[in-house]
Amino acid sequence: MDAKELKSRYIKFFQSKGHTLVENASLIPENDPTVLFTTAGMHPLVPFLLGEKHPKGKRLTSIQRCIRTVDIDEVGDPIHLTFFEMLGNWSLGDYWKKEAIEFSFEFLTKILNIPVEKLAITCFKGDKDAAKDEESARIWQSQGIKKDRIAFLPKEDNWWGPAGDQGPCGPCTEMFYWASKKTTPKKFDPSDKSWVEIGNDVLLEYNKKKSGEYEKAKQRNIDFGGGVERTLAVINGLDDVYLSEIFLPTIKKIEEISNKSYKGNEKSMRIIADHIRTSVFILGDQKGIVPSNLDQGYVLRRLIRRSIRHGINLGIKDNFTKKVAQTVIKIHKDDYPELDKNKELIFKELDLEEEKFRLTLGKGLKEFNKLTEKVKQISGKEAFILFSSYGFPLEMVEELARDKKIKVDIKGFQKEFEKHQELSRIGAEKKFKGGLADASEEVTRLHTATHLLHTALRKVLGNHVQQKGSNITKERLRFDFTHPEKMTNEQIKKVEDIVNDIIKRGLDIKKEFMPLKEAKKKGALAFFTERYKDTDNVSTYTIGDFSMEVCGGPHVKNTRELKHFKIVKEESSSAGIRRIKAVLD
Ligand code: ALA
Repeated sequence: MDAKELKSRYIKFFQSKGHTLVENASLIPENDPTVLFTTAGMHPLVPFLLGEKHPKGKRLTSIQRCIRTVDIDEVGDPIHLTFFEMLGNWSLGDYWKKEAIEFSFEFLTKILNIPVEKLAITCFKGDKDAAKDEESARIWQSQGIKKDRIAFLPKEDNWWGPAGDQGPCGPCTEMFYWASKKTTPKKFDPSDKSWVEIGNDVLLEYNKKKSGEYEKAKQRNIDFGGGVERTLAVINGLDDVYLSEIFLPTIKKIEEISNKSYKGNEKSMRIIADHIRTSVFILGDQKGIVPSNLDQGYVLRRLIRRSIRHGINLGIKDNFTKKVAQTVIKIHKDDYPELDKNKELIFKELDLEEEKFRLTLGKGLKEFNKLTEKVKQISGKEAFILFSSYGFPLEMVEELARDKKIKVDIKGFQKEFEKHQELSRIGAEKKFKGGLADASEEVTRLHTATHLLHTALRKVLGNHVQQKGSNITKERLRFDFTHPEKMTNEQIKKVEDIVNDIIKRGLDIKKEFMPLKEAKKKGALAFFTERYKDTDNVSTYTIGDFSMEVCGGPHVKNTRELKHFKIVKEESSSAGIRRIKAVLD
């Protein structure tokens, strides 16, 4: 069966069970500041899972493109991916466990013809937040799953969501397929890697609050998700997703470019195939993200740079990412015509990033090798130099060090990073280009003005306003944010008045360090925190009682220093994104 057939059988099956097909949404989530990418099919449906009425009814189905960067270190093995397509079906306060499990079982065994003997199931073990899920286990057994093939696991394994830091979540019951050529064992051992997860029915009964507590949800929903790539591989008897038709042409292309064979070079070839595919989807998305040092752009940069390094591992001398991208576009353009439409931009940006990185990479690797000739640990300062002067993302330093069995002082790196954060928000971009960060007085004032503008926009237009990008020169600030329509003159005036009022009030600006989690809890705006863990210390800037943001600075001491704020232009930047240019007198 090919991917097209798999997807079409899935959708048809759920349509036959009363579900309506919904849109495959952009990879860049709307109105959700807590995550950078759409991570699951349920993500665009959150308002409806919370009780809002969906115009297409209570039973929905979709194929959703997703990115999960948490799995980035696993990529290189036979099954992990940073980009994947998810088969999804939902009950919005409609059917519950029995039907959900029956649908999943029927789809797997009747529509995909998977033999029951090849399946195993996990259910939630129970804890202080929710009871053991005996009911799901009983339903699976009634369908023909043997008791020995059902395991009960704790929250780490059998609880899903929320997609960000709050929202719908609950226990889940997962489906596994025995992907090995060896005989299927009678008893299910969930730690045996030959059992590959192919589906997940989440029983969305809870709502996680901002405070971290779980409350019973007003509406009980079902959220099924299954990976297209994995399902396709296993039903075709493959234990390596990169050998399925979705990846094989890309792997062949990499073999051709590197003049090496996949066998023996699996890890690097998988990383390139996965990361370039993800990069193509980010660059080609209708929201058009390009490499940068901020949020989605930074993830994109890391993916491209890691691919290049693995390309060099394979002995590839010339720029190659564009060639791999061509194959990826060919594979996916029927389902995603925007990739073909945006292909010139995709090729240009890949080439540019490769050019930039190759310039410093050789020198950086030399520096790395020199450093690691004698030492057992790379200090924070050294890791930071590799980051700031040679453009090595931290995980790349870690990965290189792992290969040499050398440790990296991550805490030391973070300290060093914070020390330099005074310059980093504005400066990082320029540091990558090799110049010095601009922390001049003009730029610093405009940077503080950006925070005021951000909060004022949210007050006037609503909390859907999210920073999408910012660029500051000595003369003006430029600020991109999510908002669906042109601002009216009154709205512009209101925003200016609010900012000027705060300037006049002469509020002090306070800088503090705290764990990211605490900052968010205190209500800090935190849009560019993908690279931090919840426990990492971040710097925050608070402007009186008006605004609080996680930010590297620098900022002025008192708002009075800004004198007077004026918006000089309000225009469209791309679909759903507005752009403001503003100046200070
Ligand atoms: N949202 C669930 C998952 O991603 C289905 O596994």
